[in-house]
Amino acid sequence: MQKNIADILQVAGVVPVLVVDQVEDALPLATALLEGGLNVLEVTLRTEAALGVVEQIAKHLPEAHVGTGTVLNGDDLRRSVDAGASFLVSPGATEQLLAAADAGEVPLLPGAATASEAMRLYEQGYRYQKFFPAQAAGGVPMLKSLAGPLAEVRFCPTGGISPDNAADYLALNNVVCVGGSWMASSTLVREKNWAEITRLSKQAATLKS
Ligand code: 3PG
Repeated sequence: MQKNIADILQVAGVVPVLVVDQVEDALPLATALLEGGLNVLEVTLRTEAALGVVEQIAKHLPEAHVGTGTVLNGDDLRRSVDAGASFLVSPGATEQLLAAADAGEVPLLPGAATASEAMRLYEQGYRYQKFFPAQAAGGVPMLKSLAGPLAEVRFCPTGGISPDNAADYLALNNVVCVGGSWMASSTLVREKNWAEITRLSKQAATLKS
């Protein structure tokens, strides 16, 4: 289900996609992103620390909308909700995942990369979809092609987005926000380079006019 997801995505502009190895990095990282003007944060479930990171941000930084990414199945979804995620992102969609999302209250942004995938999700009530992997799946020309026949669907392209191409995506009428890791790469997080993360976030926050 997708209740309220439009509110979150429309304010987002750029969604940092985060891979965080240590729970202790949660608050300084989220604070650096917030200082840069990015307040919708996707913590991927790719590390042992991820759910602890979500818990910390949800508990201590109410001005952040923190969600989880790489939600692959119902278990991932339920663990995310228990940790305090306010939205859920998946690179694709399965029947099991959509059933789990329908049973809950936290909105899911499921992934699609083709017209058929986007149509199936739209049929099931998902107007907002992650377009993944954005660059590899056809990038801006693909999204322009989908805009005609699938005029109602709004995408959040993710995968291969950079400062060089983000504005081109954000200029499309069927793009509501973009996701990417460039402003808080795992290298910058491991180095605890919060100042650089804030600097890159400020640049990212200006991309959506
Ligand atoms: C991912 O797959 O980690 C996300 O889609 C982010 O992709 P990116 O690192 O290319 O921004």
